[in-house]
Amino acid sequence: MTRTWLRKLSSLFFVVCLISFAAIGCEETETGTGTGPTGGDGDGDTTGGDGDGDSTFTQLYNSPEFQMCQNCHAPGAPGFVDGTEATQDWSSEQAALSSLMGTASGLIGNFADCNGVDFIGETPEDSLLVAAFDETVRQNYDNPAFPDCNADTISDMTLNIGGALSTETRALLDQFIVEQNAAFILDLTGEYDAVDELTDEHWY
Ligand code: HEC
Repeated sequence: MTRTWLRKLSSLFFVVCLISFAAIGCEETETGTGTGPTGGDGDGDTTGGDGDGDSTFTQLYNSPEFQMCQNCHAPGAPGFVDGTEATQDWSSEQAALSSLMGTASGLIGNFADCNGVDFIGETPEDSLLVAAFDETVRQNYDNPAFPDCNADTISDMTLNIGGALSTETRALLDQFIVEQNAAFILDLTGEYDAVDELTDEHWY
Protein backbone atom coordinates (compact mmCIF):
# COMPACT_ATOMS: atom_id res chain seq x y z
CA MET A 1 0.00 0.00 0.00
CA THR A 2 2.62 2.49 1.11
CA ARG A 3 4.82 1.42 -1.73
CA THR A 4 2.13 2.04 -4.30
CA TRP A 5 1.63 5.51 -2.92
CA LEU A 6 5.34 6.17 -2.99
CA ARG A 7 5.46 5.04 -6.58
CA LYS A 8 2.52 7.21 -7.45
CA LEU A 9 4.10 10.14 -5.69
CA SER A 10 7.40 9.78 -7.48
CA SER A 11 5.66 9.34 -10.83
CA LEU A 12 3.66 12.45 -10.11
CA PHE A 13 6.87 14.27 -9.37
CA PHE A 14 8.24 13.08 -12.66
CA VAL A 15 5.22 14.37 -14.56
CA VAL A 16 5.39 17.74 -12.85
CA CYS A 17 9.11 17.95 -13.67
CA LEU A 18 8.46 17.05 -17.29
CA ILE A 19 5.75 19.65 -17.62
CA SER A 20 7.87 22.33 -15.95
CA PHE A 21 10.69 21.43 -18.26
CA ALA A 22 8.38 21.69 -21.25
CA ALA A 23 7.11 25.08 -20.11
CA ILE A 24 10.66 26.39 -19.63
CA GLY A 25 11.62 25.01 -23.03
CA CYS A 26 8.77 26.95 -24.64
CA GLU A 27 9.75 30.16 -22.98
CA GLU A 28 13.18 29.93 -24.48
CA THR A 29 11.92 29.28 -27.98
CA GLU A 30 9.26 31.98 -27.91
CA THR A 31 11.87 34.76 -28.03
CA GLY A 32 10.05 37.11 -25.77
CA THR A 33 6.64 37.23 -27.38
CA GLY A 34 4.01 35.41 -25.42
CA THR A 35 6.23 34.06 -22.66
CA GLY A 36 3.56 35.08 -20.19
CA PRO A 37 0.72 33.12 -21.76
CA THR A 38 2.91 30.06 -22.30
CA GLY A 39 4.11 29.94 -18.73
CA GLY A 40 0.70 30.69 -17.35
CA ASP A 41 -0.86 27.93 -19.31
CA GLY A 42 1.67 25.37 -18.16
CA ASP A 43 0.63 26.12 -14.60
CA GLY A 44 -3.02 25.84 -15.47
CA ASP A 45 -2.54 22.46 -17.07
CA THR A 46 -0.72 20.95 -14.12
CA THR A 47 -3.09 22.21 -11.48
CA GLY A 48 -6.41 20.68 -12.30
CA GLY A 49 -6.66 21.95 -15.85
CA ASP A 50 -6.59 18.39 -17.10
CA GLY A 51 -10.33 18.12 -17.66
CA ASP A 52 -10.86 18.07 -21.41
CA GLY A 53 -13.58 20.71 -21.15
CA ASP A 54 -11.02 23.23 -19.95
CA SER A 55 -8.74 23.32 -22.95
CA THR A 56 -8.05 26.73 -24.40
CA PHE A 57 -9.59 25.79 -27.70
CA THR A 58 -12.75 24.46 -26.07
CA GLN A 59 -13.17 27.78 -24.31
CA LEU A 60 -12.43 29.71 -27.50
CA TYR A 61 -14.82 27.60 -29.54
CA ASN A 62 -17.59 28.09 -27.00
CA SER A 63 -17.14 31.85 -26.69
CA PRO A 64 -20.13 33.85 -27.96
CA GLU A 65 -18.05 35.35 -30.78
CA PHE A 66 -16.58 32.10 -32.09
CA GLN A 67 -19.96 30.40 -31.91
CA MET A 68 -20.99 32.74 -34.74
CA CYS A 69 -18.34 31.52 -37.19
CA GLN A 70 -20.36 28.45 -38.14
CA ASN A 71 -23.12 30.64 -39.52
CA CYS A 72 -20.84 31.27 -42.49
CA HIS A 73 -17.73 29.09 -42.20
CA ALA A 74 -19.04 25.52 -42.43
CA PRO A 75 -20.13 23.24 -45.24
CA GLY A 76 -23.64 24.29 -46.23
CA ALA A 77 -23.69 27.14 -43.70
CA PRO A 78 -26.72 29.44 -44.13
CA GLY A 79 -24.49 32.52 -44.45
CA PHE A 80 -22.01 30.99 -46.87
CA VAL A 81 -21.78 32.96 -50.10
CA ASP A 82 -19.36 32.95 -53.01
CA GLY A 83 -16.11 34.34 -51.63
CA THR A 84 -16.57 33.23 -48.02
CA GLU A 85 -13.34 31.76 -46.71
CA ALA A 86 -14.00 28.06 -47.30
CA THR A 87 -11.33 26.03 -45.48
CA GLN A 88 -12.57 26.80 -41.99
CA ASP A 89 -15.28 24.51 -40.70
CA TRP A 90 -16.67 25.75 -37.40
CA SER A 91 -19.55 23.24 -37.39
CA SER A 92 -17.93 21.33 -34.52
CA GLU A 93 -15.01 21.92 -32.20
CA GLN A 94 -12.98 19.10 -33.72
CA ALA A 95 -13.66 20.19 -37.29
CA ALA A 96 -12.76 23.76 -36.40
CA LEU A 97 -9.49 22.78 -34.79
CA SER A 98 -8.34 20.64 -37.67
CA SER A 99 -9.47 23.10 -40.34
CA LEU A 100 -7.48 25.84 -38.61
CA MET A 101 -4.32 23.83 -39.28
CA GLY A 102 -4.90 24.53 -42.97
CA THR A 103 -4.67 27.59 -45.17
CA ALA A 104 -7.24 30.09 -46.38
CA SER A 105 -9.16 29.29 -49.56
CA GLY A 106 -12.16 30.41 -51.57
CA LEU A 107 -11.48 34.14 -51.15
CA ILE A 108 -12.30 36.28 -54.17
CA GLY A 109 -11.64 39.83 -55.36
CA ASN A 110 -8.79 41.56 -53.57
CA PHE A 111 -9.24 39.17 -50.62
CA ALA A 112 -7.95 36.42 -52.97
CA ASP A 113 -4.39 37.53 -52.21
CA CYS A 114 -4.69 35.67 -48.89
CA ASN A 115 -5.64 32.31 -50.40
CA GLY A 116 -2.98 29.79 -49.35
CA VAL A 117 -2.01 31.68 -46.18
CA ASP A 118 -1.77 29.77 -42.87
CA PHE A 119 -4.46 30.74 -40.37
CA ILE A 120 -2.01 30.22 -37.54
CA GLY A 121 1.46 31.74 -37.69
CA GLU A 122 4.36 31.53 -35.29
CA THR A 123 2.93 34.22 -33.04
CA PRO A 124 -0.52 35.80 -32.68
CA GLU A 125 0.83 38.84 -34.56
CA ASP A 126 1.81 36.61 -37.49
CA SER A 127 -1.57 34.90 -37.67
CA LEU A 128 -4.21 35.59 -40.28
CA LEU A 129 -6.78 34.39 -37.76
CA VAL A 130 -5.86 37.27 -35.45
CA ALA A 131 -5.31 39.82 -38.21
CA ALA A 132 -8.93 39.35 -39.27
CA PHE A 133 -10.07 40.58 -35.83
CA ASP A 134 -7.44 43.13 -34.82
CA GLU A 135 -6.79 46.31 -36.75
CA THR A 136 -3.25 46.77 -35.36
CA VAL A 137 -2.23 43.21 -36.18
CA ARG A 138 -3.73 43.67 -39.63
CA GLN A 139 -1.79 46.90 -40.25
CA ASN A 140 1.49 45.24 -39.26
CA TYR A 141 0.81 41.89 -40.89
CA ASP A 142 3.84 40.99 -42.98
CA ASN A 143 4.07 37.59 -44.64
CA PRO A 144 7.11 37.38 -46.95
CA ALA A 145 5.66 34.38 -48.79
CA PHE A 146 2.41 36.29 -49.44
CA PRO A 147 3.40 39.98 -49.62
CA ASP A 148 0.02 40.94 -51.10
CA CYS A 149 -1.86 39.51 -48.13
CA ASN A 150 -1.83 42.59 -45.94
CA ALA A 151 -3.97 45.27 -44.34
CA ASP A 152 -5.54 46.09 -47.71
CA THR A 153 -6.58 42.54 -48.46
CA ILE A 154 -7.35 41.00 -45.07
CA SER A 155 -11.02 41.26 -44.30
CA ASP A 156 -12.24 42.83 -41.06
CA MET A 157 -14.19 39.96 -39.51
CA THR A 158 -15.47 42.07 -36.61
CA LEU A 159 -17.99 43.45 -39.13
CA ASN A 160 -19.34 39.91 -39.53
CA ILE A 161 -19.72 39.16 -35.85
CA GLY A 162 -21.18 42.49 -34.81
CA GLY A 163 -18.19 43.98 -33.01
CA ALA A 164 -14.74 43.44 -31.57
CA LEU A 165 -13.74 40.34 -29.64
CA SER A 166 -14.11 40.71 -25.88
CA THR A 167 -10.86 41.00 -23.92
CA GLU A 168 -11.37 37.45 -22.62
CA THR A 169 -11.95 35.96 -26.05
CA ARG A 170 -9.02 37.84 -27.52
CA ALA A 171 -6.75 36.53 -24.74
CA LEU A 172 -7.96 32.97 -25.42
CA LEU A 173 -7.22 33.40 -29.12
CA ASP A 174 -3.65 34.55 -28.39
CA GLN A 175 -3.16 31.77 -25.87
CA PHE A 176 -4.43 29.16 -28.32
CA ILE A 177 -1.91 30.27 -30.95
CA VAL A 178 0.99 30.33 -28.49
CA GLU A 179 0.03 26.83 -27.31
CA GLN A 180 -0.22 25.52 -30.86
CA ASN A 181 3.31 26.68 -31.54
CA ALA A 182 4.60 25.28 -28.26
CA ALA A 183 2.99 21.93 -29.03
CA PHE A 184 4.47 21.96 -32.50
CA ILE A 185 7.98 22.71 -31.26
CA LEU A 186 7.75 20.07 -28.55
CA ASP A 187 6.40 17.62 -31.07
CA LEU A 188 9.55 18.10 -33.18
CA THR A 189 11.75 17.27 -30.21
CA GLY A 190 9.60 14.30 -29.19
CA GLU A 191 8.94 15.74 -25.75
CA TYR A 192 5.39 16.77 -26.38
CA ASP A 193 4.20 13.20 -27.02
CA ALA A 194 5.68 12.06 -23.75
CA VAL A 195 4.02 14.86 -21.80
CA ASP A 196 0.77 14.33 -23.63
CA GLU A 197 0.67 10.64 -22.86
CA LEU A 198 1.46 11.14 -19.21
CA THR A 199 -1.02 13.92 -18.65
CA ASP A 200 -3.72 11.94 -20.42
CA GLU A 201 -3.63 9.48 -17.55
CA HIS A 202 -5.77 10.56 -14.63
CA TRP A 203 -3.39 11.42 -11.89
CA TYR A 204 -5.59 13.62 -9.80
C1 HEC B 1 -21.67 36.62 -41.82
C2 HEC B 1 -20.75 35.63 -42.31
C3 HEC B 1 -19.43 35.44 -41.57
C4 HEC B 1 -19.23 35.23 -40.23
C5 HEC B 1 -20.26 35.17 -39.12
C6 HEC B 1 -17.80 35.04 -40.07
N1 HEC B 1 -17.17 35.15 -41.27
FE1 HEC B 1 -15.16 34.99 -41.62
N2 HEC B 1 -15.45 35.45 -43.58
C7 HEC B 1 -16.67 35.70 -44.18
C8 HEC B 1 -16.46 36.14 -45.55
C9 HEC B 1 -17.55 36.48 -46.55
C10 HEC B 1 -15.05 36.14 -45.76
C11 HEC B 1 -14.29 36.56 -47.01
C12 HEC B 1 -13.80 37.98 -46.90
C13 HEC B 1 -14.90 38.97 -46.97
O1 HEC B 1 -15.72 38.94 -47.91
O2 HEC B 1 -15.01 39.79 -46.03
C14 HEC B 1 -14.46 35.70 -44.50
C15 HEC B 1 -13.10 35.60 -44.29
C16 HEC B 1 -12.52 35.12 -43.13
C17 HEC B 1 -11.12 34.96 -42.93
C18 HEC B 1 -10.03 35.25 -43.94
C19 HEC B 1 -9.67 36.73 -43.86
C20 HEC B 1 -9.01 37.24 -45.07
O3 HEC B 1 -9.53 38.21 -45.65
O4 HEC B 1 -7.98 36.70 -45.47
C21 HEC B 1 -10.94 34.49 -41.67
C22 HEC B 1 -9.63 34.14 -40.99
C23 HEC B 1 -12.25 34.38 -41.06
N3 HEC B 1 -13.19 34.78 -41.97
C24 HEC B 1 -12.49 33.92 -39.78
C25 HEC B 1 -13.74 33.98 -39.18
C26 HEC B 1 -13.97 33.57 -37.82
C27 HEC B 1 -12.92 32.95 -36.92
C28 HEC B 1 -15.28 33.84 -37.53
C29 HEC B 1 -15.99 33.71 -36.22
C30 HEC B 1 -15.39 34.35 -35.06
C31 HEC B 1 -15.87 34.39 -38.74
N4 HEC B 1 -14.89 34.46 -39.71
C32 HEC B 1 -17.19 34.77 -38.86
C33 HEC B 1 -17.90 35.60 -43.58
C34 HEC B 1 -18.12 35.41 -42.22
